[in-house]
Amino acid sequence: MKGIILAGGKGTRLYPMTKSVSKQLLPLYDKPMIYYPLSVLLLAEIKEILIISTPNDINDYKKLLGDGSNIGVKFTYAIQEKPKGLADAFIIGEKFIGKDDVCLILGDNIFYGSNLSEILANAKKNKGATIFACTVKDPKSFGVIELDKDRNIVSIEEKPQNPKSNLAIPGLYFYDNTVIEKAKHVKPSPRGEIEITAINEAYLKENNLNVSMMGRGIAWLDTGTPQNLLKAAEFVEAIQSRQGYYISCIEEIAWRKKFITNEKLKEIGEQLKMTDYGKYLLSLLEEE
Ligand code: G1P
Repeated sequence: MKGIILAGGKGTRLYPMTKSVSKQLLPLYDKPMIYYPLSVLLLAEIKEILIISTPNDINDYKKLLGDGSNIGVKFTYAIQEKPKGLADAFIIGEKFIGKDDVCLILGDNIFYGSNLSEILANAKKNKGATIFACTVKDPKSFGVIELDKDRNIVSIEEKPQNPKSNLAIPGLYFYDNTVIEKAKHVKPSPRGEIEITAINEAYLKENNLNVSMMGRGIAWLDTGTPQNLLKAAEFVEAIQSRQGYYISCIEEIAWRKKFITNEKLKEIGEQLKMTDYGKYLLSLLEEE
């Protein structure tokens, strides 16, 4: 399975912070925002990852992440000329995806929870498509899913005025290879984008759409406004300083998943040892 991180957009809701810096590069407490969705792909053991961003920002991502060899994975980069919608990722990524299945994650979606690995492993095994459902207080600014009492999908709507449930669809999607053809047939919505919701509806029509609940044990954090960004950062800080474990430390995950050796982790830790982050990496080796 291949992975795609979509890190485009203008981030206008965070201006002036994002006037000259891509939103998904902003710090979320102690690491760039993109580390969080990247960690989700690593936890799902996806090692070939395409990063899509704007013509202006793509080089900053290359500078940050390189070719991936440092953490035992392979990064490829592609440009989205205009913010044409999430489904555009599969058209841009057609060659990269090849004949494989693909997981798409949005570069500003943060997930944290104890059974995340298990949820991801199950989604990977499913046929067709798998999306997720998270309870939120105000689902109006998301894709919203309506389920019947047996948890069958009744409807999916993009940013409805009158949501039929409190279940929002987070920016994490697992698809089989037919997603490429489906994306090519999606017509732009009133906001001029080819919506991921249209892709999900196509799978639903084929009876090929699975939904997996992310219950109370999973935190799905929003970074859309300055206040939410701060709250998400405080959440990360609170857990890290209390437990001593880092959230979304990509080098740690790569090491635990055996994508990199002890020696490699030591090398990266030494380079960063003037920071708590580097000291943390070195401390992991003492666990052994
Ligand atoms: C997009 C999707 C929406 C989803 C959300 C998750 O919204 O269109 O269905 O719930 O991501 O972050 P956008 O970020 O484009 O407003």
